[in-house]
Amino acid sequence: MPNVNPNAPTSETVLSVRHYTDDLFAFSLSRPSGFRFRSGEFIMLGLQGEKKPLLRAYSVASPAWDDKLDFYSIKVSDGPLTSRLQNIAIGDEVLLGRKPVGTLVLDALLPGKRLFMLSTGTGVAPFASLIRDLDVYANFDQVILIHTCRQAAELAYGFDLVDTAKNDPLVGEEAAAKLNHITSVTRGNYPLQDRITTLIETGALFEHVGGGSFDPASDRVMICGSKAMTQDLKALVEAQGFKEGSNSSPADFVIEKSFVG
Ligand code: A2P
Repeated sequence: MPNVNPNAPTSETVLSVRHYTDDLFAFSLSRPSGFRFRSGEFIMLGLQGEKKPLLRAYSVASPAWDDKLDFYSIKVSDGPLTSRLQNIAIGDEVLLGRKPVGTLVLDALLPGKRLFMLSTGTGVAPFASLIRDLDVYANFDQVILIHTCRQAAELAYGFDLVDTAKNDPLVGEEAAAKLNHITSVTRGNYPLQDRITTLIETGALFEHVGGGSFDPASDRVMICGSKAMTQDLKALVEAQGFKEGSNSSPADFVIEKSFVG
């Protein structure tokens, strides 16, 4: 009998690849039958290494109802995985873990009125899934996706996502009515030129959503970006009275680091 490990990654076929910049690309994989996940979760994926699989955590960037799985990745020229993964082509095989996990999920949040999704760089990926989840629109009156990058070219993927969501046959009407997309750039010319933290501190963010400020009684916040970004935003929302939620104890905000390598 061959020794088959039921937890071993499955081998999935690359269905599409799109390079956005020299440092960013998106790709789709076949979805194994029986692969279930909640919008906002991540999964281990990667390539076979010399001795064992080389896997990294990637947020699923497609909606739970889609029959393929989308991902969005940075390219790190000396990164053990992404230096190779950036060269994948349609028809290639990529290893996919079996167990999606994560805290950036609706289940970890209490009901509210406005849902803020705060992202930098590839941290926008889990929101690609969430902004096409009907439950997001059923649970919230307003959905605000904020995406900040160093350069304007790095915002292109987010614009594509929002466009896709607003034109989607299933969620398009809800997204068009409730989804707000706010973008800023920190190292180039752009109408909004501040970090997310600054946009919140100065109140500039709220000018785009009808005024006010954060209110833990009715606002919920999801945060995804680099380690430094998630730490700073966690401190900022905690100072405003928000409590961190988890799957077992839902509350006002949740965090996920976006992963690189
Ligand atoms: P900045 O250009 O001022 O460093 P990175 O690629 O380093 O993760 O950065 C992506 C975006 O996140 C950049 O716009 C960057 O701004 C911003 N950023 C980096 N660190 C933080 C932080 N601690 N808080 C808020 N935004 C951050």
